[in-house]
Amino acid sequence: MEKKIKMLVVDDSEQTRENVKAIFNWEETVEIAGEAKNGLEAIEMARELRPDIILMDINMPEMDGIKATKIITDEGLEGSVIIMSIQGEKEYIKKAMSAGARDYVVKPFGVNELIEIVKRIYEADQIRRKRYTVPTPTAKVRTKVISVFSTKGGVGKTTVATNLAVAIASMNKKVALLDCDLQFGDVAICLNLYVKNTITELIKDINNLEHEGDLIDEYMLTHYSGVKVLAAPIRPENAEYVKPEHIKKIVDALRGRYDYVIIDTAQGFDDTVITALDASDNIMYVSTLDLPSIKNTKNGLDVMKTLNYSNDKVKILINKSNESFGVKNTDFKAVLNVDIWMVIPDDLASVTISVNNGHPLVAHRKASNVAKKINKLAAMLVEGEKPKTSIFKIG
Ligand SMILES: Nc1ncnc2c1ncn2[C@@H]1O[C@H](COP(=O)(O)OP(=O)(O)OP(=O)(O)O)[C@@H](O)[C@H]1O
Ligand SMILES: [Mg+2]
Repeated sequence: MEKKIKMLVVDDSEQTRENVKAIFNWEETVEIAGEAKNGLEAIEMARELRPDIILMDINMPEMDGIKATKIITDEGLEGSVIIMSIQGEKEYIKKAMSAGARDYVVKPFGVNELIEIVKRIYEADQIRRKRYTVPTPTAKVRTKVISVFSTKGGVGKTTVATNLAVAIASMNKKVALLDCDLQFGDVAICLNLYVKNTITELIKDINNLEHEGDLIDEYMLTHYSGVKVLAAPIRPENAEYVKPEHIKKIVDALRGRYDYVIIDTAQGFDDTVITALDASDNIMYVSTLDLPSIKNTKNGLDVMKTLNYSNDKVKILINKSNESFGVKNTDFKAVLNVDIWMVIPDDLASVTISVNNGHPLVAHRKASNVAKKINKLAAMLVEGEKPKTSIFKIG
């Protein structure tokens, strides 16, 4: 037997819900999977029931249908929303459609009219799904996801992430770089990219990503090295619209399409960063040789233990290393009792000139010690090269 269309009915009027149920009583292809009395209940039931269609009233107590539609769309929940409105609600219908509703019916609706619209939207969804689940040739790539993280700001996460991405791309690998510093991300600026789209625009289309994997490329910026960048929101206030589940969906969409996904993060553990870290094969944990940074790294490593990240997953990088300031690399490893994977020297001139010129130093200032170390880091990650002189084995 064909799969039934699973429908959720949302209306505060019991009478309307009963009418809808009566209409579908004899319609074997549609199953009323649940009923909700307001927007809040609708969201909860949509999360739980994963309906195909959500038939949604506009005016309801607690949360109206427009707000609920927006949340359902933004969260990427399953279920195409069809709005039920009354005559004269044109403005509301417009708002509902821009919140993500797929279509609308005006009450009182005819039996056939309602059945027809539910089937039409469902079938359109099915066609879309089939069309986009055809595997693409790149879908078999085994992707490695690497986050660059720190419990401190300004330690060089973005410098490492951008240069690492370019260095890996120069090894003939397909690389995506995701700017997960959602409020103050500066990956696009560091790579001198013209920002046409960002993650803000992508999340409006997030529901289609699962079935339409290539879609993500439309939102990514291309760096001349070949690295594809998904930029952070242009305005910091737009960061709040990016939810952990969006990050998960984005990383899932990039997986299989790129050899490497590099994620630059905001300082510390917020929910979106934790989602990125969870999804990562490796975390490059950047620290510097100063006491606050060492203290924060210790606390951060404790948090990672509670998150069950293995020692193998988390790699410590010391950046801006300059032992003449009193703390040595060996002090760092002794205090924290961890392996240090790579030490990147302090060289403000090279790093600043490369950013100001818009040319990554791993490509244009290869001879600098910072570039040498990051190129080496890329080789270690790509070729599984064993650490040599720059790595300390902790006893
Ligand atoms: N190896 C280095 N030597 C000297 N200066 C460096 C080095 N790496 C980065 N810097 C400088 O440190 C500053 C911070 O770097 P970056 O923006 O990469 O850090 P971040 O951790 O991403 O910061 P935020 O937390 O603000 O995102 C920049 O001015 C950069 O030029
Ligand atoms: Mg940064």
